[in-house]
Amino acid sequence: MKVIITENYDEMSRKAGEIVTEIVKNNPNAVLGLATGSSPIGMYDYMVKEHISNGVSYANVSSVNLDEYVGLDADNENSYAFFMSKYLFDRVDIDKKNTNLPNGKAEDKQAECDRYNALLETMKQDVQVLGIGSNGHIGFNEPGTSLDSVTHVVDLTENTIKDNSRLFDDISQVPTQAFSMGIKNIMNAKSIILLASGKNKAEAIKGLVKGKIDISLPASVLQLHPFVTVIVDKDAASLL
Ligand code: F6R
Repeated sequence: MKVIITENYDEMSRKAGEIVTEIVKNNPNAVLGLATGSSPIGMYDYMVKEHISNGVSYANVSSVNLDEYVGLDADNENSYAFFMSKYLFDRVDIDKKNTNLPNGKAEDKQAECDRYNALLETMKQDVQVLGIGSNGHIGFNEPGTSLDSVTHVVDLTENTIKDNSRLFDDISQVPTQAFSMGIKNIMNAKSIILLASGKNKAEAIKGLVKGKIDISLPASVLQLHPFVTVIVDKDAASLL
């Protein structure tokens, strides 16, 4: 596992953006595994900037996202589909038909998990971008999730609902369930970059980099993947 410690969020975003942009330049048909949340926003800004200034094209790129809230559709501004359009898809030349997220409004949740797993089998991520929860979750794989897990419906922990409530008008509006790729789907990626900034991620980053591999801190399993780059600002790295 390679660990890059940066001065701040902007440098973290630039480094991550450089890695993803390089992958796309080398392989115009790349499959990008994408994440939502605060951590990758600066990286998406970098990718957009490179698209506008240097013509990096996403015309033949496809994407798979880690997760989506159960019950929210793409028009809901708190959905992850809305987030991805806002921060990336509507700002580059990617064909929206080639972008994939679980369908938050699917009536049959198990069928939706099966559909997404079948899709992931045909779309191995050239790179999977991850953030990390303060409890060590990746995707919405909360502590205790099996290493063999594939896309499933997750009951979000109180901790995660509280962390994510900052983006909603009121904590009562935060969905209590989400679809999430499982740990096995994440580990299937050819390479992984994980981003974290801020002191509230320091414990989780310590567990990820130095802790023992244990499902009580799901991100620790990344130690078993051969190509992981952890890019963290100095606050998130403060306990390393
Ligand atoms: C988002 C996701 C989550 C976040 C994590 C960190 O698609 O799967 O695991 O990456 O909760 O969120 P931020 O970046 O907002 O601190």
